[in-house]
Amino acid sequence: MRLVLVGPPGAGKGTQAEFIAAHLAVPKISTGDIFRANVVQGTPLGIEAKRYMDAGQLVPDEVTINMVRDRLAEADAADGFLLDGFPRTVPQAVALDKLLANLGAGLDLVMELVVDDDEVIRRLSGRRQCHGCQKIWHVEFDPPSRDGICDRCGGQLYQRDDDLPATIAERLRVYARDTAPLVDYYGAQGRLVGIDATGPVEDVTLRAIDALRSYGG
Ligand code: AP5
Repeated sequence: MRLVLVGPPGAGKGTQAEFIAAHLAVPKISTGDIFRANVVQGTPLGIEAKRYMDAGQLVPDEVTINMVRDRLAEADAADGFLLDGFPRTVPQAVALDKLLANLGAGLDLVMELVVDDDEVIRRLSGRRQCHGCQKIWHVEFDPPSRDGICDRCGGQLYQRDDDLPATIAERLRVYARDTAPLVDYYGAQGRLVGIDATGPVEDVTLRAIDALRSYGG
């Protein structure tokens, strides 16, 4: 299955992507994670991306599209994938359609995680991520058993630079302006399913998997 997850920052895309990708047995491809890995490694891509990420802005389409094109060409994505955080502009969506058409394939489904701005702010302000295995935690909603330490791998947890209040506000503005139009874009293609992303993580996962089943996933 070729699936895209869309939703505002903090909707739970990264959290749900882990479970959904495991359910579908496809690789999870997160453009945010790829950019962050490049930032840590200090690559030219990471240095360029960091300027935009820290300001809550999107990395330019051309840079992002080229990066995703290379990633989708890898062998593990040949039979399906879950894209988390891409596309997030209409030009990116058009580029993805063309890329897949050239491979004789198409997207099966676009799943929108629906959650309001107040919940997004609560989720992002308490988010912590593991330096080691990238697992996502929350100080209130999903705390590790030891403060600042990942239960899964023992790595150190950190707060993302773009999870500061002013940057969160800018990311929400950018989402409304540049990414929300994808809902109409994919709705018009008949590929969109929206799910309620509020409530406990496990409940959201069940809703997502139910929705996938009704589309053959
Ligand atoms: P990216 O990493 O994709 O950030 P985002 O879309 O803003 O999404 P987040 O990762 O912030 O949130 P999420 O929806 O994954 O939520 P999560 O599961 O972590 O992108 C970062 C930056 O990279 C962008 O701003 C941009 O600069 C650049 N970029 C990336 N892709 C790009 C692209 N295609 N084009 C251009 N630029 C791009 O959950 C959040 C918190 O809530 C966690 O603490 C979690 O534990 C908690 N939580 C999750 N679910 C629940 C629940 N049900 N109840 C309570 N808490 C919950």
